[in-house]
Amino acid sequence: MPSTPGTVVVLGTGGTIAGTAAHAAQHTGYTAGVLGAEALVAALPALQGLPLVAHTLARLDSCNMDGPTWALLAEQAALHLARPEVAGVVVTHGTDTLEETAYFLHRVVAAAKPLVLTAAMRPATALSPDGPQNLFDAVTVARSSGAHSAHGVLAVLGGVVFAGAELRKVHGYRQDAFSAGDAGPLALLEDGVLRVLRPWPNVPLHAVAASLSSLLATRAWPLVDIVTSHALADGRVVDALVAAGSRGLVLAGTGNGSVHAAVKAAAGRAMAQGVRVLRASRCQLGGVVGGAPDDLPSAGTLTPVQARIELMLDLLAAA
Ligand code: SIN
Repeated sequence: MPSTPGTVVVLGTGGTIAGTAAHAAQHTGYTAGVLGAEALVAALPALQGLPLVAHTLARLDSCNMDGPTWALLAEQAALHLARPEVAGVVVTHGTDTLEETAYFLHRVVAAAKPLVLTAAMRPATALSPDGPQNLFDAVTVARSSGAHSAHGVLAVLGGVVFAGAELRKVHGYRQDAFSAGDAGPLALLEDGVLRVLRPWPNVPLHAVAASLSSLLATRAWPLVDIVTSHALADGRVVDALVAAGSRGLVLAGTGNGSVHAAVKAAAGRAMAQGVRVLRASRCQLGGVVGGAPDDLPSAGTLTPVQARIELMLDLLAAA
């Protein structure tokens, strides 16, 4: 391993940023995760000459993200961040589950340095791909030092730096597909210069490191599922999931986390059997505010996919 101070480690996991299409005009129907991290870095002249190493951990379409890859990524990110010569780590990833991986890493990696996720909405073969600029910007954040020195799990897309814990994918096709909801961006990248808008996220480093140790010790992922509440809903899905072994359920409720009475009754039966339940909102922005005393437990500001990760980690810690 090189020991140049200020080294950035790029860990590739796949995604559209590493995807190739048959035609340059094609933005859909391409194959994600074809190129390794080494190729993405080598293709970017602006990165040449920088102390940078790339490793390909996976070549996934991120809709297929799996437990072993998450565990490997968290382990490798933590190992590299702990090396004194490493300034920061960049993760190239698909956009589809980027918010889940960002939240997961935020919860398990004690990132006292920048751990920066990036991705692209257009494949590497596109006429105007967004991946190269996003990768360059992510490396810039990972190398940031001095007054602007970043830390924590971050995501960089379209010249915007988001807190990993606040990231949401809000569009399926457009290049500006991400938001931090009510919280807004942490920083902007303008001509390669970082303009910080608000403080970098504070991370309880010891608690977070303990979560990673327990995860890596067991590598067992408790079964936690998401059930959407909607018009004409009934309790069949909840009952079936409990019968199939779910140990946790997130109810993606309507509006401010309201849940159809039939689903609520089934969730009550599940809780009586020891299944953990959290009530989130299926709305694209906002979370669950307040609640009546007899409501199902609230996920607060967490999105359904974030609440699912919380339940998984809770169950893991209790195992
Ligand atoms: C993926 O999530 O791996 C494919 C879609 C994308 O990266 O935009």
